[in-house]
Amino acid sequence: MSDNLTLPAQQGSPGTSTEELLKVEGLTKHFPIHGGFPIKRKVGAVQAVDGIDLTIGVGESVGMVGESGCGKSTAGRLITRLLEPTGGRITYSGQDITHASRRQLAPVRSEIQMIFQDPYSSLNPRQTVGSIIKSPMEVNGIEPAGGREKRVRELLELVGLNPEHYNRFPHEFSGGQRQRIGVARALALRPKLIVADEPVSALDVSIQAQVVNLLKKVQEEMGIAFLFIAHDLAIVRHFSQRVAVMYLGKIVEVGDRESIYHRPRHPYTHALLSAVPEVAMDDETETRERIRLAGDVPSPIHPPSGCRFRTRCWKAQDTCASEEPPLLQISGNREGHLTACHFPEEPTTEARGEDVVLDPALVALEEEN
Ligand SMILES: Nc1ncnc2c1ncn2[C@@H]1O[C@H](COP(=O)(O)OP(=O)(O)OP(=O)(O)O)[C@@H](O)[C@H]1O
Ligand code: SF4
Ligand SMILES: [Mg+2]
Repeated sequence: MSDNLTLPAQQGSPGTSTEELLKVEGLTKHFPIHGGFPIKRKVGAVQAVDGIDLTIGVGESVGMVGESGCGKSTAGRLITRLLEPTGGRITYSGQDITHASRRQLAPVRSEIQMIFQDPYSSLNPRQTVGSIIKSPMEVNGIEPAGGREKRVRELLELVGLNPEHYNRFPHEFSGGQRQRIGVARALALRPKLIVADEPVSALDVSIQAQVVNLLKKVQEEMGIAFLFIAHDLAIVRHFSQRVAVMYLGKIVEVGDRESIYHRPRHPYTHALLSAVPEVAMDDETETRERIRLAGDVPSPIHPPSGCRFRTRCWKAQDTCASEEPPLLQISGNREGHLTACHFPEEPTTEARGEDVVLDPALVALEEEN
C-alpha cells in the first residue's frame, strides 16, 4: 500500500472510466416476517429490495434516491455485504461476492467502505478519534510506512480536521466534524468504493454543502467510486455522474445526470424533480408543473401488483395493474438512460398549465384554507 494520501485518480479520471467496479443483478432482500403460536413460522416477507440491476464504474459517483422506506439503505448494506442477499448476484472487480464467506470477503472488505447517516451513533463515544480512525488498519493488519498514528494525522488533515485533535473524543466535535471523522475512518484503508448512506441528512443545512464538497473532493482526487444515497434529487445533483431512482424496492429510472434532471421519463422522477427548487428555477424548466406527491409509499409487505407506483400515479391505466413495466431504454433516450413505465412522460418537460395534485385529501385541505 502506498503512503501517499493525495493519490492521483486511480485508473483514469472520474467520469471517463468505463471499467466496471461493481455490478449487481437482480439483487433482492426479503426480510421474513414470523408469526404463529406455539411454533413460529414465516407468514410473509418485507420486500425491501426486489430485483435491482446497477453497475458502478471505477471512480464513478452514482446517486441513489427515493422516499423513506423504498429500500435504499438495504441496497447499500447488501452491496457492502453487511446483509446477506435473498437473491441475485453481486460482482466486485470481476469476483462474485454474493455469498462470499467472511474469510473470502476479507480482501474485498477493505476496498468497500460505508459512511452512515448518523454521525452521533456511528462513532464509539468511549474511543478517541485516533483509535476510531486507526481501528480499520488494526483489524486488517495494515502498518503504513511511518506508522498508523502518522497516517491518522494525515487523514485528519485531509478531511479538514486538526491533527492535534487525535486524542479527543467524539462528543467534543460538532455533527459536521463527526461526519468528517466518519469519512477519515472510511478512507483509512484506501477504499475503491464508498457507500455513503444519507451522509448529510442528519446535519444542519448550513453544514451539508461542506460535507458534500469534502466527499466530492475525495471522490475526484482519490478516484474513489461512490454510491451516494439520498432522499431527494437536490443533494446528489452536484455530486453524481449517474442517478438511480428507487421506488418500493425497485429501480424505476436510471441514467446520466443530464438525462435524469432534464429529460426524466418516469412519472415518479418528475414528481421528485418538481420538489427540487433549484431545478425548477432553471430557465428551461421555469414553467415546469409542480407535482405534489402526497401519501405514503405503500407497504413493501404487499406491494401493488404490476407497477408499484400505480397507486400514486396520475397516468395509471389497467395495464399498469396487470403488467410490471420492465426497466428499458425508451426510444429517443440516451444510451444507459432506462425507465420502467408503460406510459412514460414526454422527453421535453413542458408545463401542464396547472399543478398535478395526487391526493384529493390534500386538495380538500387546501381549499378549506
Ligand atoms: N432488518 C429488517 N427487518 C425487517 N424489515 C426491514 C429491516 N430493515 C429494513 N426493513 C424494511 O425494509 C424496507 C426498506 O427499508 P430501508 O431502510 O432499506 O429503506 P430506506 O429507503 O433506506 O428508508 P429511509 O429513507 O427511511 O432510510 C422498510 O419497509 C423497512 O421497514
Ligand atoms: S407504468 Fe403506469 S402506473 Fe407505473 S409509472 Fe408508468 S403510467 Fe404510472
Ligand atoms: Mg435509509
